[in-house]
Amino acid sequence: MNKKKLVFSGVQPTGNLHLGNYLGALRNFVSLQKEMECIYCVVDLHAITTFQDPSQLTNNVLETVASFLATGLNPEKSIIFNQSSVSAHTELAWILNCVSRIGWLNRMTQFKDKAGGEKEKASVGLYIYPNLMAADILLYKATHVPVGADQKQHLELSRDIAQKFNKDFKCKDFFPLPEPLIPKNVSRIMSLRDGTKKMSKSEESDYSRINLKDSADEISKKIKKAKSDSDTIPDNFKKLEDKPEALNLITIYSEVSKKDINKVMIEMSGKEYSFLKTKLAEILISEITPVGKEIRKLLEDKTHLRRILKKGKEKASIIAEENLKNIREKVGLL
Ligand code: TRP
Repeated sequence: MNKKKLVFSGVQPTGNLHLGNYLGALRNFVSLQKEMECIYCVVDLHAITTFQDPSQLTNNVLETVASFLATGLNPEKSIIFNQSSVSAHTELAWILNCVSRIGWLNRMTQFKDKAGGEKEKASVGLYIYPNLMAADILLYKATHVPVGADQKQHLELSRDIAQKFNKDFKCKDFFPLPEPLIPKNVSRIMSLRDGTKKMSKSEESDYSRINLKDSADEISKKIKKAKSDSDTIPDNFKKLEDKPEALNLITIYSEVSKKDINKVMIEMSGKEYSFLKTKLAEILISEITPVGKEIRKLLEDKTHLRRILKKGKEKASIIAEENLKNIREKVGLL
């Protein structure tokens, strides 16, 4: 049994990471780095399951690496690399395509959401995307996977694939079953304009999100304009169930300040939302603008960023090649 703990996670290079990415993933990555061995991958092959402009894709990969570093990931401690640079990911993905079942993929809600009504026109890559994600994780025999709540189903699929592989090839415990690490309390940071939608890069209005590269001025303006509520703040967040925008502001405040949401409710109870907004803007500015500055600075030296990826690729390849060799053997490939 593989007892060693190993963290793996992937982030899509969409460029322009926002507060949702920061609170839901990056900040968590940094604290895990202190406790365990970690591998953080910029998943460029997942990105191209929907069309990406080639020159933008390259820049987005570099910008994602810059965001990793700016939030505190240390390339001496953690392995940081881009998925397509280690070809073992795609090779294992093929093998796992043959283990995974069509029925399993048909249940994936993210495919249904992303493909929308146009299933027939979606790329095959988008459909088998979860198998590639399983390959990412299993290639390193990762035991822990920090992800947002929206990836829980994909992680369960990875576990099913691991289990079926172990059973089909009669190698009990060969692949450890990866555990999801989903941030407690908030799993979702929502749009500032519509509290029922996730904060997302693809929402048209830039006022819907706080980008890591936003200036102090932009952050203030966006928080000021964010939808809230005309009532005063109640004493319990459960009373905000039908006011998702107000709840979202409370959640963001609680997360960024690392204060328990119940404590935040006591602090804010009876006050106007404008009071919360002032506090929230202050704390966001002090936490986010230094990260944005660092991202900009890092982006001025792309050679440095490429060098970090190259080193990461070398380290990742050693583990990947060794594991892939054993996997090929299990399957009986010469
Ligand atoms: N699908 C994940 C997302 O969109 C990204 C991802 C790809 C990932 N491979 C992974 C996350 C492996 C964790 C582990 O967020």
